Amino acid sequence: MISLAVYPGSFDPITNGHLDLLERGLKVFDKILIAIARNAGKKPLFSIDERVELIEDSLRGRSYEDRLEVVSFDGLLVDYVRKVNAKAILRGLRAISDFEYEFPMSLMNRKLNEEVETFFLMTGLRYNYISSTIIKEVVISGGSVSGLVPEPVERKLREKFMKLDEGSSDVPRVVVPLADPKLVLRKKAS
Ligand code: PNS
Repeated sequence: MISLAVYPGSFDPITNGHLDLLERGLKVFDKILIAIARNAGKKPLFSIDERVELIEDSLRGRSYEDRLEVVSFDGLLVDYVRKVNAKAILRGLRAISDFEYEFPMSLMNRKLNEEVETFFLMTGLRYNYISSTIIKEVVISGGSVSGLVPEPVERKLREKFMKLDEGSSDVPRVVVPLADPKLVLRKKAS
């Protein structure tokens, strides 16, 4: 029997911190489902389809690619875990603040389904300070996130903010001069 874990989250977008956690999770579990929550209650930057694609692109060619699968789910996480016949939820912990957020969530999940256990892994030290939110904030302000997110994510963030800056009015504009010329978010005036 293979041991299967579900690694749920918003993944808006996936970061190298998530990948680091997955790599270490695969030392314990045979297979991990990366499960994007459709109703995580936040206003996401990337659509579900974009997030699935970004994760798949980020995993392509990695040695452990075939032990991971990207899915999305609606409703309760424990219901999804039961549906796929898994018994384990995998989550990462960076700091005490994460614990405060995770603890009630894991207790609630246990209350909802006693068969499912939550396993926490400490995030790698190198990525301890990053989150999807902080990554977006840095890119929005013109900073480089190179080495902190997979290359397809870095590219897509650049594209996304370039588009946002050009058009839509309900999105943040890039106002800070760019430190890294590779991350050109604003089209140069010709
Ligand atoms: O990456 P995130 O945003 O911290 O992930 C949060 C997530 C998706 C794990 C959490 O919001 C979740 O499990 N949502 C599904 C709905 C659910 O089951 N809620 C009850 C748990 S308290």
